[in-house]
Amino acid sequence: MPQKGTAPQKHPQERHDHETLKFPDGFLWGAATSAHQVEGNNVNNDWWAWEQTQQPPHLRSGAACNQYNLFEQDFDLIKSLNHNAHRLSIEWSRIEPREGEFDEREIEHYVKLLKYLKSLKFTVMLTLWHFTLPKWVADKGGWENGATVGYFERFARRVVPEIATYVDLWVTLNEPGVYIYETYIDRVWPHSKKSWLGQIKTFLNLTSAHKRAYKYLHSLFPAGKPVGIANNILSFESYHKHSFKEQIAVSLNDLFANHLFYMFTRGTHDFLGINYYFHIRFRDKNLTAQKQNMVGQTHDASDLGWEVYPEGIFEVLTDLADDIPIYITECGIASTNDDRRNRFLISYLQEVARAIKSGVNVRGFFYWSLLDNFEWHLGFEPKFGLVEVDLKTQARHIRPSALVYTDIIQHNGIPHSLLRFIGHTVQAEEVLEKRQKEIEKEINSSQTKNKSDD
Ligand code: BGC
Repeated sequence: MPQKGTAPQKHPQERHDHETLKFPDGFLWGAATSAHQVEGNNVNNDWWAWEQTQQPPHLRSGAACNQYNLFEQDFDLIKSLNHNAHRLSIEWSRIEPREGEFDEREIEHYVKLLKYLKSLKFTVMLTLWHFTLPKWVADKGGWENGATVGYFERFARRVVPEIATYVDLWVTLNEPGVYIYETYIDRVWPHSKKSWLGQIKTFLNLTSAHKRAYKYLHSLFPAGKPVGIANNILSFESYHKHSFKEQIAVSLNDLFANHLFYMFTRGTHDFLGINYYFHIRFRDKNLTAQKQNMVGQTHDASDLGWEVYPEGIFEVLTDLADDIPIYITECGIASTNDDRRNRFLISYLQEVARAIKSGVNVRGFFYWSLLDNFEWHLGFEPKFGLVEVDLKTQARHIRPSALVYTDIIQHNGIPHSLLRFIGHTVQAEEVLEKRQKEIEKEINSSQTKNKSDD
């Protein structure tokens, strides 16, 4: 019986169907990038050197998205898309192009850039190392060389005090495991080689680099500014549940890929940063991991063949839930089919909401990536961006999926109008087209304002 003065209760099913799937207040919504993938002309790092000699011209980073020069325009854009947070990295090789020589102008550049980002009221998550090394560090052995731990700390001690006011969350390292995998196992990145010893040394040096940076950052900000890493976390499954071999493969891969770095760096994480892209199925015989060949199978897949598996993000979140906050520091899809990106966003975020409802302390989501950027050894072919980049003119074009994301951000949740589209094509509806016009207007007026401020 409804009580006097209260609205009659709806049937729970009915209520669920028509309500927005809400996220917690203060949830961070943003996109992520990394310096070498968007800035352009990072001529002093090991990737640049390798690209010039080992990669054909179309797979070189070149001017990338020219964000080094266009950062104001890009940050205005994410403001107009209603993001409230942004994750990006700084480029060590710009700041310390030669051993012990720090380039004041480059430090000043990052101060200017971060100050601008902060003036737009974003929560800023900054990564100190995202795969590239200054060439001089690489020439001395890169992460295999124990001295690199000290070089990295010296770099952090030089640059952090200058930019600290503009940073809210620190990521010391991006995906140590992926770096090791691509260098020593897949062997498609610079310095690739077969070396168990090199692999172990790199792993241990990266754990030390994180611990040293963590300690230093905590000594500067004892009362705040959380520090963590962004770790590639995968969900694993066996094709045949009764295969002993497959089950062992699942457990060992879970241990090595998802937990080992945390085991070696216990007590030095204020949050867990999760980059989620992969659901890996092991198949008997040679235990080949099925990660690249999902195209043409019954499973939906990205243009890179990576399986679309929304439940996986729920699985890894509930698996890693601890007593510290979690940020999804990267999650995204490479696709030239933007409807697929729409479905991806809605279905993955629905699983994140489910994890939060189950008690997992997720505080933010950073879509990878804001722009179609330089996808490492694969060049510019994979299209991860919410925003398309014309590489000839550097013009940015907002994709409909960016507006679906904005719709979610504005509701701080997934509105029913989007939820009901999962499994079907999500069209850029009238409302989104209208929003696109508003955004264009906002951008034009902020550019005019910037010009008149100059
Ligand atoms: C990396 C990014 C990369 C993305 C897509 C992550 O492993 O942090 O740099 O572009 O995945 O492959």
